[in-house]
Amino acid sequence: MDIDRNSTLFTPLDLGALRLRNRIAVAPMTRVSASAEGLATAQMAHYYGSFAAVGFGLITTEGIYTDEAWSQGYLFQPGLANDAQRDAWRPVVDTVHRHGAAFVAQLMHAGALSQGNRYRDDTRAPSALRPKGTQMAFYRGDGLYPVPGAMSEAEIARAVEGFANAARRARAAGFDGVEVHGANGYLLDQFLTEGVNERRDGYGGPAQSRLRLIRETVHAVRAALGTDFTLGLRISQGKVNDFVHKWRGEHEAAEIFGALGELPLDYLHITEFEAWRPAFGNAPSLASLARRHAGLPVMANGSLHDPVRAAAMLADGAADLVSLGRGALTHADWPRRVQAGLPLEDFDRELLSPIADLENAERRRNETAAANP
Ligand SMILES: Cc1cc2nc3c(=O)[nH]c(=O)nc-3n(C[C@H](O)[C@H](O)[C@H](O)COP(=O)(O)O)c2cc1C
Repeated sequence: MDIDRNSTLFTPLDLGALRLRNRIAVAPMTRVSASAEGLATAQMAHYYGSFAAVGFGLITTEGIYTDEAWSQGYLFQPGLANDAQRDAWRPVVDTVHRHGAAFVAQLMHAGALSQGNRYRDDTRAPSALRPKGTQMAFYRGDGLYPVPGAMSEAEIARAVEGFANAARRARAAGFDGVEVHGANGYLLDQFLTEGVNERRDGYGGPAQSRLRLIRETVHAVRAALGTDFTLGLRISQGKVNDFVHKWRGEHEAAEIFGALGELPLDYLHITEFEAWRPAFGNAPSLASLARRHAGLPVMANGSLHDPVRAAAMLADGAADLVSLGRGALTHADWPRRVQAGLPLEDFDRELLSPIADLENAERRRNETAAANP
């Protein structure tokens, strides 16, 4: 469906220290295509550059692990846990910049959902509870998640330090911003989530205490980055191992976003399966609750590859910009196509099957092209 070529989607936006050429971002997507040592590759530079070349204003990296302890989630995931990994990102960053897009590094600690870590054989989480669900086969996982060890306060402090050090490396590698991954069931979200976090110390119990790790991490990352550098936080209700999880209701959303609004953040990245749906019952969408209660710019994510939906999120005041995952994989030139009124294809799941890496996607694209000459 066509939308107005002058839609707000195509207008610039200031996001912290950054000026974006439009309001269309690539969502973070783990592609397990780094070297075994967590080094970004030339293939990754090509992949990220392809979104920048054709009009996305902002590109977020896949979740990057932060330390050489328990943060890594997947084999072949890239890291920012040492200086060699930092240096490997430089050519990727340069490629994206050459095409005029802003590039934000998403920093992630997998916690109990780690299913491949070259530094450790066991996992860490707020509490020693086996995560729901099963490991993701397209990231080489198999069977149940292991029961994690409950983190000591010293381990928590080291994880926070890991985020801060990785943020420093992201800035040194040339990234334009950092997004702390507080969503989707990974470590920071594990601390926020009732039933996953059963701690009885200052990190568990009421929402304000379950938010403590997020608060400490954001403050540490901000201190590492300085004030003149864009910093965002991604938040969700659903998790990769529990899609339907919900917070207690609108009052809890107000409390959580109110607390996040106090943090030194430049934006919140809010993800739901369908970004425009009521967060609970008849409530507004989670993105609009975030915007209302945190008072921060909001990037909305979730099935917004339909441009009418994406434009409506901005027009309705629910968000300041949108991010696309599957839509960007389907059309690396989504912004240009939409502005030109060109048709959009449906997402092809086979691009991520059997492994969600870049090599497999390229093979699939070649097969499809050969079948439809
Ligand atoms: C292959 C794949 C990998 C993903 N990896 C990440 C990730 O590393 N970090 C993250 O925050 N979200 C990740 N996501 C979630 C996306 O950022 C996004 O929330 C999801 O695809 C829904 O948006 P969409 O409807 O536009 O696809 C991933 C999604 C896909 C499809």
